[in-house]
Amino acid sequence: MTTEQQPRAQWLGRWGFVLAATGSAVGLGNIWKFPYMTGEHGGGAFVLVYLVCILAVGVPVMMTEIAFGRRGRGSPIDAVRRVVSESGRSSAWSLLGWVAMLCGFMILSFYVVVAGWSFSYLWKMLSGGLNGSGVDDMVAIFVANNENPFNLGFWSTLVTLATMLIVGKGVQAGIEKSVSWMMPGMVIMLMILIGYGMFSGGFAEAWRFLFSFNTGSLSSEGMLAALGHAFFTLSLASGAILTYGSYLPAGASIARTTFSVAVADTLVALMAGLAIFPVIFANGMSPEGGPGLLFMSLPLAFQAMPLGTLFGVLFFIMLSMAALTSSISMVEATVSWLVDNKGITRRTAAWGTGIVLWLVSTLAMLSFNIGADWTLAGRHFFDWLDYLTSRWMMPLGGLGMVLLAGFVLKSETFREELGLAPYWHALWLFMVRYVSPLGILLIFVDALGIARLQFGIHWPWLLAVLVLVTLIGEMASPRLRRTLAG
Ligand code: PHE
Repeated sequence: MTTEQQPRAQWLGRWGFVLAATGSAVGLGNIWKFPYMTGEHGGGAFVLVYLVCILAVGVPVMMTEIAFGRRGRGSPIDAVRRVVSESGRSSAWSLLGWVAMLCGFMILSFYVVVAGWSFSYLWKMLSGGLNGSGVDDMVAIFVANNENPFNLGFWSTLVTLATMLIVGKGVQAGIEKSVSWMMPGMVIMLMILIGYGMFSGGFAEAWRFLFSFNTGSLSSEGMLAALGHAFFTLSLASGAILTYGSYLPAGASIARTTFSVAVADTLVALMAGLAIFPVIFANGMSPEGGPGLLFMSLPLAFQAMPLGTLFGVLFFIMLSMAALTSSISMVEATVSWLVDNKGITRRTAAWGTGIVLWLVSTLAMLSFNIGADWTLAGRHFFDWLDYLTSRWMMPLGGLGMVLLAGFVLKSETFREELGLAPYWHALWLFMVRYVSPLGILLIFVDALGIARLQFGIHWPWLLAVLVLVTLIGEMASPRLRRTLAG
């Protein structure tokens, strides 16, 4: 079945995996999506739930995924199949791998459109196409940029080409090399923008907006959005992290790398918020600007800044690169599956995937111009891709992974892969068995309208449910006790 003549590639440097995984995690999700979602869902409450989701769900899921990848040494489908067969379980579980791979592909189909915005804004910065005097001009520029399908299609095609070029080159020469200088550069740019934001007059308000955790104001829709975004921003349940994990050398600590990636990713998102919202407030714009928020706000900041064009150019270069280091991770699962199972070269696999991707992403791109009316239940194709992946496929795929790891597979598998001290292992097990699944389920129960959650009022009840479920679960299975005993 598999035609792996050569040993599987591995990251070159000690930092290879951390850099690549951080490159995957940090992207448009942090700089484009997080600020506008925070704006749409009312600020601090959304941020708080998002942070809780990262810690309680994101980190355990990421550790589990990397462990699957390294243990199974393959694409999500192959890796999951191998790991479950090691425990003598049904290969039907590899369906999880299929969903993940499809999910990564679907995300990329709309992601290249947004990355295309970034590329086109870089061009506008260079060519002086972003000169306008205020908010209305910026909105008009954004709208005009979307109106012409050939213009928009040109940029998303460019992103698709760049992605496939890097992936076609391979793990070390393509992926690892490009991320090692793009990531630090982006952080420096964000710091400069925050520095600007501090003096723009909107900083205090932006700070309050992001960090006044008034949980009463968050809707169920907002909670599901926060959960979905935690998955999206950490590149979980979409094949990316699992596949990168399959190149991880045997000795590396999964817990430590996961932690570094999660912290870096969270910091970049919060920094992006602190760079963007001051500009929004200082210019009297509304934080609910939607997907165009970043593109309508930051150019205003650049204009008012000394050397603004230079900074603007640098920023959009970095944003485009952050997008690329993420987009390559989304196809890596598909490409590595094709290479391992279909006996074709990496290059052929990359270009083949690229063609299909181009077709689907073109449909997504048309949502902003001629296809604006092609909607189903109020969403156009671009929105559907985002909605289905973030709100459904990723949380449910992640749920499947943690339940599989927590209850179905042999505990030795994960004890060996994670290599944690007994009490840390017990904590991980507690998280994947109870905290993460319960968190995901509760948010779904709430979002589907089966029952309403209200953090302020119900949290003691939530805690009680957690304790109860844990007790029942542990009585049914004595494994955690053994773990605790070492
Ligand atoms: N984490 C990336 C971002 O925040 C997006 C992504 C999702 C990448 C899924 C890979 C897989 O931009």
